[in-house]
Amino acid sequence: MTDSHSPCSGCSARRDFLRSALTAAASVAAVSAFGPAEAIAALAPRAAGSVRYALPAADGVSIDKTNEVILCRAGNEIYAFALSCPHENTALKAMSKNAGFQCSRHKSKYKPDGTFVSGRATRNMDRLQITRDGAQVVVDPDVFFESDAEPAKWAAAFVTV
Ligand code: FES
Repeated sequence: MTDSHSPCSGCSARRDFLRSALTAAASVAAVSAFGPAEAIAALAPRAAGSVRYALPAADGVSIDKTNEVILCRAGNEIYAFALSCPHENTALKAMSKNAGFQCSRHKSKYKPDGTFVSGRATRNMDRLQITRDGAQVVVDPDVFFESDAEPAKWAAAFVTV
C-alpha cells in the first residue's frame, strides 16, 4: 500500500503513555500466560520515519518494543499494528497458538488480522502503514489507520507473501 496521511496530533501523548505502560508490564511479562511473540528489532535505526524488518518466514507474532510495532504473519498476509490497545492504550499481548491478541487491562480480544472480537474496545487494532520491499517489510510507526475512521485504508493496510 502506498497511501499515507499525517501522524495524529495525539501520537506523542499516546506514545508517552504506552512507554510508561510497557515499563510496568515488562516486569510481569516473564510469568504471563501470553508471550509467544518473539522480540524483534528493526534491521537498522529508524530512518525517514520508517523501520525495516525481515519478512516473517512463518506464521507468528513479533514485537519491536523500541518502535512500538507488532508484526504479525497470518497465512500469506503480514500486518503491522500499533502496540497499544485502541481502547485506552495498554500494551497488547499475543495469545498462544497464533490465536490473536488480548489486552491485559480490560481483556479486549482481537483476531490475528486485528479485527475486534470482544471486550471494551470499540474498534479493531490500529494498523500501521506497511509496504513490502523484496525480502523486507517497511513500516512507519507514526502512520496508522483506525478502522472506524478510515475503514478502506485500514482494510488495505497489509502486504502479501
Ligand atoms: S485498554 Fe485495552 S480494552 Fe481497555
